[in-house]
Amino acid sequence: MGTEEMEAVILAGVLRRAGADVTLASVEDGLEIEASYGTRIIADKPIAACADQVFDLVAVPIDAALERSTEVNRVEWPFDHKPQVLIPIANGSEEMEIIMLVDILRRANINVVLASVDESTNVVGSQRMKIVADKCILGASDSKHDLIIIPGGPAGAERLHRSTTLKKLLKEQKQAGRMYGGISYSPLILQKQGLLEDKTVTAHPSIVDQLTCQVIDGSKVVIDGNLITGKGLGTVMDFSLAIVRKFFGHGRAKGVANGMVFDYPKSRNA
Ligand SMILES: *[C@@H]1O[C@H](CO)[C@@H](O)[C@H](O)[C@H]1NC(C)=O
Repeated sequence: MGTEEMEAVILAGVLRRAGADVTLASVEDGLEIEASYGTRIIADKPIAACADQVFDLVAVPIDAALERSTEVNRVEWPFDHKPQVLIPIANGSEEMEIIMLVDILRRANINVVLASVDESTNVVGSQRMKIVADKCILGASDSKHDLIIIPGGPAGAERLHRSTTLKKLLKEQKQAGRMYGGISYSPLILQKQGLLEDKTVTAHPSIVDQLTCQVIDGSKVVIDGNLITGKGLGTVMDFSLAIVRKFFGHGRAKGVANGMVFDYPKSRNA
């Protein structure tokens, strides 16, 4: 209970990407762990079933030469209540992006709902970590969300693209002038759904040549009016903090960044 979910998931995600054999072990009675910001993760094994393992230290690579964030067609993101954010997820979604987003937004006191687009709430991420969604998308489709964020992971994003419920929610979101966005691979999905016309975005380098809208390649985050896009996994901290800043201002974002020992500019213009 109360594990720092970002630390556990980032470590396991980076190591698995590097080809390491990683076991997430639960020290609870069951395999389900409710982490400190409420995300439910399912461990691979109980700790008693694990042999000792040796870990090498790997860091998340972030290219410091990139612009932290760029904003065009600036609008305020209005809300008169605790902001509500919907994150639809599917098997194959990028779990590190999901966990970092949820963690940072909840730290900033934003309401986040993780919604599975399939019947089961048990989601297996791209690095095989198991996350339990808060609900299924149908159960989330009656409420209004200030922001809908589509996480990356190509296989997951393609599954999200096939959800007719999500397609309808995204279309309504744009028509109502509410906020939406995507990270890494998912701007491609937003484009396929007609949500990027006349927009400026950033996206994962591997899909940039498939985008027909304006792309700012050198920015980790691009905010164009009601649309926010992020370049990829290594830029999710900046992406999440940009959301916090749009909702609550620079001070709150700086406070959350300090709590995570994440380097963030002192002034709003940096
Ligand atoms: C994800 O895959 C697992 C194992 O293949 C399956 O049991 C589960 O129902 C799937 N979840 C979703 C949300 O599709």
